[in-house]
Amino acid sequence: MSAPNKSYDPVEVAALSPGELERAQAGALAAIAAATDLDELKAARIAHAGDRAPISLARAEIGALPPAARAEAGKRVGATRAVIIQALALRQAELESERDRRVLVDEAVDVSLPWDRTLAGARHPVTTVGERLADVFVDMGYEIAEGPEVEAEWYNFDALNFPPDHPARDSYDTIFVASPDGRERSGVVLRTHTSPVQIRAMLTRPLPLYVVSPGKCYRTDTLDATHSPVFHQIECLAVDEGLTMADLRGAINAFVAAMFGEGLRTRLRPDYFPFTEPSADVSMECHVCRGASTKPGAPPCRVCRSQGWIEIAGCGMVNPRVLVACGIDPDRYSGFAFGLGIERSVMIRHGVADIRETIEGDMRFSRAFGTEA
Ligand code: PHE
Repeated sequence: MSAPNKSYDPVEVAALSPGELERAQAGALAAIAAATDLDELKAARIAHAGDRAPISLARAEIGALPPAARAEAGKRVGATRAVIIQALALRQAELESERDRRVLVDEAVDVSLPWDRTLAGARHPVTTVGERLADVFVDMGYEIAEGPEVEAEWYNFDALNFPPDHPARDSYDTIFVASPDGRERSGVVLRTHTSPVQIRAMLTRPLPLYVVSPGKCYRTDTLDATHSPVFHQIECLAVDEGLTMADLRGAINAFVAAMFGEGLRTRLRPDYFPFTEPSADVSMECHVCRGASTKPGAPPCRVCRSQGWIEIAGCGMVNPRVLVACGIDPDRYSGFAFGLGIERSVMIRHGVADIRETIEGDMRFSRAFGTEA
């Protein structure tokens, strides 16, 4: 800004000359028209109406004019500035409405598109049936007990009365965990059944004892229609004064009724497990044909293969040697136990012929059998 100077001729102040103001206006209007979005317009506003814009610098010069010249120069600068400001406002409104229109198009939601393209999963039937099995026992007053899947051989075999080198150990197709140096036996296995949880429960919980233990088990089996190297078992154990096989039978019947329906008969046949004595395998009447398929000329039953019975579990009275190994007096206490495969229960319950269906993770399987009330 120049200092006031009374002999100053306004036409000689370059910034205030009509030509200069016209140029400032033309430059501003061109920049405003060329702005294609709000950011560009903002830049144009700073360049042509901001503090350092030609029109602003011109306005600052007015103060330096002789008073007589100020009004005329002020009018010219004011008019030019008004044109620029108005052009800015117009373009601003235009660009804003353009942006709003674009947002409406770009962010439009087509409410008529199908909504269920992503399949919702479902809880796996091995989980839901396992929980249902456990619930049956929790309702009868049993507690849930859990144990590690990587288990000491002692819990998995020795404490359960499998003598070292006894052939029964071989029937469990054990996966052994290697020792750190890979030479000696580590004494650690992936548990082959849930029975080691019985030992842990008897060693740590007060008597009388009623526990149910669901969990994952491992064996070296190759995957085929009826075997899987990883599967789930659920095991029930009761230790109390005066328990007999009749109590075991009662628990099994309650379980079968809750899982497969009321009124199905059960059958125990002698079997062998080192940790129970006597031992039995448990079958139930086929819940589909109820034995009808065994009659001559009757249509065959896929579920029991027309046997009329389905084997579902192993059971027995806890071997007194196992009680002793856990510090329990076998003259005062007795116990019963039974264990079964959860995948097998799922297969029986839903008529699934191939165990691989339960582990392949196909959502159609989970959705069909895992969604239940
Ligand atoms: N643990 C046995 C198995 O896996 C099943 C079983 C459990 C048998 C409890 C008797 C009592 O073969």
